[in-house]
Amino acid sequence: MVCSGVTEADAEAVRRRLVVMHPLLPSRKLDIRVKATAIILLAMLIGGGLWISWPLTSRAQGPGMSSGEVPMTTPWRPRDRNAKYSGPEACVKCHQEESHQHATAMGRALEPVATSEILRAHPRLTFRTGPYSYEVVRRGDQTFYTVTDGKDTISEPILYSFGQGKAGQTYIFRHNGTFYESHLSFYRDVGALDFTIGYPRDVPSSLDEAAGRAISIDEARHCFACHGTGAAYGNQLELDRLIPGVTCEACHGPGVDHIAAMQAKKFQNERIFNPGGMGADELAQEFCGSCHRSAEQVSSNKLLRGLISVRFQPYRIFTSRSHDPDDKRMACTACHNPHENPVQDMAFYDAKCFACHRSSQSLKSAATAKAETKEGRTSKPCPVAQRLCVSCHMPKVEFPGSHFKFTDHRIRIAKAGEPFPN
Ligand code: HEC
Ligand code: HEC
Ligand code: HEC
Ligand code: HEC
Ligand code: HEC
Ligand code: HEC
Ligand code: HEC
Repeated sequence: MVCSGVTEADAEAVRRRLVVMHPLLPSRKLDIRVKATAIILLAMLIGGGLWISWPLTSRAQGPGMSSGEVPMTTPWRPRDRNAKYSGPEACVKCHQEESHQHATAMGRALEPVATSEILRAHPRLTFRTGPYSYEVVRRGDQTFYTVTDGKDTISEPILYSFGQGKAGQTYIFRHNGTFYESHLSFYRDVGALDFTIGYPRDVPSSLDEAAGRAISIDEARHCFACHGTGAAYGNQLELDRLIPGVTCEACHGPGVDHIAAMQAKKFQNERIFNPGGMGADELAQEFCGSCHRSAEQVSSNKLLRGLISVRFQPYRIFTSRSHDPDDKRMACTACHNPHENPVQDMAFYDAKCFACHRSSQSLKSAATAKAETKEGRTSKPCPVAQRLCVSCHMPKVEFPGSHFKFTDHRIRIAKAGEPFPN
């Protein structure tokens, strides 16, 4: 078996799926198909050499993060070291409407320990596995992560907490001069520590392994690029520039020049990136997908497929049969305001489906059918129900060990007991 176990059958399946699902899509999708296939074939050719190390370093945290590149040079994440970031406080002085963004899960995807809400609310957490006992204990503004086997002890101050803990909050600390990712994470659903997602559930074989996993600077750079603002650019990571969390400038790019231009009333050149100008598919794949994982990344990397792919909404949406990813009504922003947390009331999404789908009433009344056609609602009505569409067609799926059910963005007729459609 080569690298991550990609076989010709897998490669063929990817090719076939993308072709079958989107026979009429424009050429960009063809590009993806060709590129994905090329990457898979390349992986097979290179064989054991370069890529064999993947399964060793790769795990399922974040979107299967350590495998695959995070795009580092984009309008919203420029390579230029001199690009100036203002921080969100400066932006919300003029942009009131977006001013709650810093309080969303994305806005707090990374927190320094001093302000980490979960660590403050849980001053002492403990856990035990085999001979190892763990303590995560608050002292003043710091929290110490300690593991002991009874003879030796590793104890380090946590530097950052990653995630809001729905599917786990993981900790980064420094040990022997290297960044470590904690072996344990906090889970909001159970209010306690448990193994970090993707880590084997067996008893760790050494104290060092029990503490966590050493991560390279390169990997850390990716973590900070997806969870933070301003610290990662090109192949550099400078933590003294870090603005914690996915804040305004993580998505709109550095904003100091924009502020100066707006203050000088130079409205013809706003000098800020607005992703609202992107097409629906580009927004999903290139923009949201730069952190949430694109169809291209997932279809070219076996480690990101299978059940874990339920975490990668851009991929799931792209492979949602019959749904045209280029249609504005299917854009991520049709259902989500990136400046707010996602709406949890399922009824909220009915109108999003009805933007395209007809009501069952249209089958009985020609007038209704005509009116709906006029509104652009030409897709079939549901023969089963007229509300809470997502409860059946976007099923919630638990990824093992995450203590959380992700919402499958592959919109479909889900059948009870069917295996997860990869
Ligand atoms: C001095 C006031 C001011 C500040 C501070 C400010 N903006 Fe703006 N911004 C404006 C004005 C005025 C506009 C143009 C009118 C509008 O769309 O509201 C604008 C437009 C925008 C747009 C839309 C651009 C487009 O092409 O449509 C974005 C995105 C934006 N600002 C983001 C930011 C971000 C991010 C920050 C912080 C780095 C920020 N702004 C700080 C005044 C400001
Ligand atoms: C710079 C990276 C980045 C970009 C770009 C990005 N996200 Fe996120 N997003 C994250 C991270 C990291 C989280 C995890 C937050 C957490 O729970 O800690 C997240 C979480 C979310 C959540 C879940 C929030 C919750 O309450 O659990 C939604 C919804 C979301 N993102 C939508 C979007 C959409 C839509 C786009 C594109 C318009 C987008 N994101 C672009 C990094 C990003
Ligand atoms: C490619 C971008 C990317 C990278 C790299 C990345 N993450 Fe994430 N991470 C995300 C996104 C997007 C989410 C939200 C969706 C999800 O939970 O899968 C997330 C979710 C998480 C969560 C769960 C958050 C919650 O609220 O439940 C944790 C914990 C986490 N990441 C930690 C890390 C750590 C630690 C690293 C580095 C070792 C890392 N991530 C690297 C994008 C990334
Ligand atoms: C996760 C990515 C993300 C973050 C973080 C983010 N934005 Fe946005 N922003 C977007 C997207 C995507 C759009 C386009 C929305 C659309 O067209 O529906 C947008 C649009 C805007 C606009 C234009 C609104 C309009 O009516 O055209 C402004 C202004 C803006 N954002 C300001 C901010 C400010 C200020 C912050 C921080 C407090 C912020 N954004 C944080 C993704 C983000
Ligand atoms: C951009 C327009 C659009 C939106 C938005 C949309 N759909 Fe669809 N959907 C379609 C089209 C087109 C088809 C193909 C069949 C047809 O014409 O009805 C389809 C097919 C389906 C199917 C059948 C799939 C299959 O495998 O046979 C289901 C179920 C479905 N949609 C549910 C939903 C739900 C639930 C929502 C909201 C969460 C939604 N759709 C949003 C356009 C859309
Ligand atoms: C209680 C679960 C449930 C809810 C809620 C639900 N559906 Fe369905 N839907 C189904 C099932 C089951 C089928 C398959 C029926 C069949 O094949 O006989 C289906 C079929 C469909 C189809 C395919 C129709 C066709 O002729 O091929 C579409 C489109 C659809 N649903 C859209 C929606 C929309 C839009 C909503 C919300 C207004 C919705 N559904 C709500 C269970 C549900
Ligand atoms: C047709 C509507 C729709 C579209 C389009 C859509 N989402 Fe969602 N999304 C949902 C629903 C429904 C939920 C579940 C909300 C809840 O119950 O908490 C959700 C939840 C999420 C979450 C939280 C994690 C989870 O699994 O519950 C993330 C992250 C997310 N969406 C990202 C995206 C991204 C990125 C895109 C574009 C590729 C996107 N969504 C497009 C409807 C949509």
